[in-house]
Amino acid sequence: MVFDKAYFDAGVCRVGTQCEKWDGMIAASGDSEMIPMWVADMDFPSAPAIREALSGVLDWGTWGYTISGEADAKALCSFWARRHGLAIEPAQVLMSPCVVTGLRLAVRALTKPGDGVMINPPVYGPFFGSVKGNERTLVESPLRPGEDGRYQLDLADMEGKLASGEAKAVMFCSPHNPCGRAWSREELTALVALCRKYGAPLICDEIHADFVFEGEHHSILSIEGADEIAVMLCAASKTFNVAGLQQSSIVCRNAAMLEAIRAEMDGAGVKAGNAFALAATRAAYTDCDAWLDGLKAYLVGNRDYAMDYIAKNMPRVKVTPLDATYLMWLDCRALGLEQQALLDALAAAHVKVNDGLFFGELGRGFIRLNIGCPRSQLERALAQMKTVLG
Ligand SMILES: Cc1ncc(COP(=O)(O)O)c(C=O)c1O
Repeated sequence: MVFDKAYFDAGVCRVGTQCEKWDGMIAASGDSEMIPMWVADMDFPSAPAIREALSGVLDWGTWGYTISGEADAKALCSFWARRHGLAIEPAQVLMSPCVVTGLRLAVRALTKPGDGVMINPPVYGPFFGSVKGNERTLVESPLRPGEDGRYQLDLADMEGKLASGEAKAVMFCSPHNPCGRAWSREELTALVALCRKYGAPLICDEIHADFVFEGEHHSILSIEGADEIAVMLCAASKTFNVAGLQQSSIVCRNAAMLEAIRAEMDGAGVKAGNAFALAATRAAYTDCDAWLDGLKAYLVGNRDYAMDYIAKNMPRVKVTPLDATYLMWLDCRALGLEQQALLDALAAAHVKVNDGLFFGELGRGFIRLNIGCPRSQLERALAQMKTVLG
């Protein structure tokens, strides 16, 4: 099978699949004409090898307790070695249901109640909840757009908050959702150096690792010295559009930290052993490289189309450069609309985007646009957005 533009152009109908992005939106809005450009999953069929793996499990005809272990970790290790040049050993891996589960477990295992955990907003909403929902203190070090519009870390601010003891750990998003940054080796090296200097665990969410469009993804674990302090969270869920199956991994080369997370998992009774999820994830990590390469090429086309269309037709909207992820961060502040008025106007134009405030107060005046869909859907959504933002 060829995973070319025509394959991804065809998309897949998701209505009636208990799909949050479509069915959830239609149920909440009552608008069956609304185009869903929100929740971070894609309107493409998952790779055929995943479907075959799931059919194989379906054919068992009975689904008792399932072994998860060596084969699953090996598939993950081989994928990361092949795609990202990162050497991981199965002994450094724990299986967890979701990446957000991993974020929360790591916070609980590596910090104490009351400790400050630093995040870099605007950032994925559950980062806030993973800290506050675990009786830890949220410490914010905002990202700032540089001259080229790319968001930057404020390392001096981060150091101040670590040095004063206000922050005892860092929760980091790499690549960054929603700012679309693929962090450079230099930036990651500086971050690791800071965390080592102050003995702060670094919890790094790399769920978007496979969507770096130019250059390569630098895993935190590829940075010198990171082994002592870093935990990396990853999944096949975003990459291969299998988030509904709920399977992720926690990778850590510091044995004591890994044990602390394992103990936290045991204490909470968190187990990953869903037969369908494990089979799909093994197939994704083993047999889907051609699908992923085709997808990335398609998304680059979508990104370039959207950038160009917005620049020409919605000049007051500032698009954040998209190094990585299929999630575009749009600054609509120049339109002077209140946040709810902005969202309501887009809804009236039958387009559903993510509210910038989901990513913290710094998202006021912003929206996030999901471009992981067939080009025709993106074209329609942008044309309808133009009626409000043009
Ligand atoms: C940065 C980031 N982490 C985690 C998740 C969610 O992952 P999971 O469904 O495995 O919890 C998302 C989904 O959009 C995300 O963008």
